Amino acid sequence: MTDISRRSLAMGAGLLACGLAVGARSQQMPPQVAIAVPVPKATPKPLILNPEKVKGLSADLLRNHHDKDYADAVKTLNAVGEELARLDFSAVPPEKLGKLKRDEQAAQNSTVLHEIYFDGLAEAPTQPAGLLAQALSRDFGSLDRWKAEFVGIGKSLASGTGWVILAYAPRDKRLVNSRAENDSMAPAGAVPLLAMDMYDHAYAADYGTDTAKYIDAFMLAIKWTNAERLYREAMRV
Ligand SMILES: [Fe+2]
Repeated sequence: MTDISRRSLAMGAGLLACGLAVGARSQQMPPQVAIAVPVPKATPKPLILNPEKVKGLSADLLRNHHDKDYADAVKTLNAVGEELARLDFSAVPPEKLGKLKRDEQAAQNSTVLHEIYFDGLAEAPTQPAGLLAQALSRDFGSLDRWKAEFVGIGKSLASGTGWVILAYAPRDKRLVNSRAENDSMAPAGAVPLLAMDMYDHAYAADYGTDTAKYIDAFMLAIKWTNAERLYREAMRV
């Protein structure tokens, strides 16, 4: 064996020994710790209206809806967000990640839509006015035609879940009425201006299964000034 062959053999043995040592050390290392990321913490918005003054919806119904159902959505959103922040995405089973992401989207939508729902209720009747009234006539033909579609969508959600959403779509620069059968469904790329909650917790205590009466009450209780404020903001998106 030449000197060069002996040196190569010795170097190879050294590298092998070094590799084995590194492998042994890596096996002894603890599992990789997931990187902690900041978690946005949602806080329930207070009920700014006086529930005693909303016609057609009882104060008890509105308080329970706000303090329990809406608050539960915010709690779920925060709990899921914390769990996701601790996860090692490279190791979590896909089924577990899938469930967490479904829950996150449902809780996020539920939180946002409930806030628009409560902000959209008035203590005294209001009417569509200004730019929003013009846009409703432009995009639906007339206010009555807009209302007929919005109400009809509500009546089509007869299973005790879902939302009817009036939204502005910046991509198309127009208003749309949207039908969401559950919290996870919402129009992509559109900004909600008005949301009618069709989950039975929103009406059953006052109206039982008579969704038509609940829808009539909601339509008379809309705070149009809030929808118009959101419309003006959405047009700047
Ligand atoms: Fe609700």
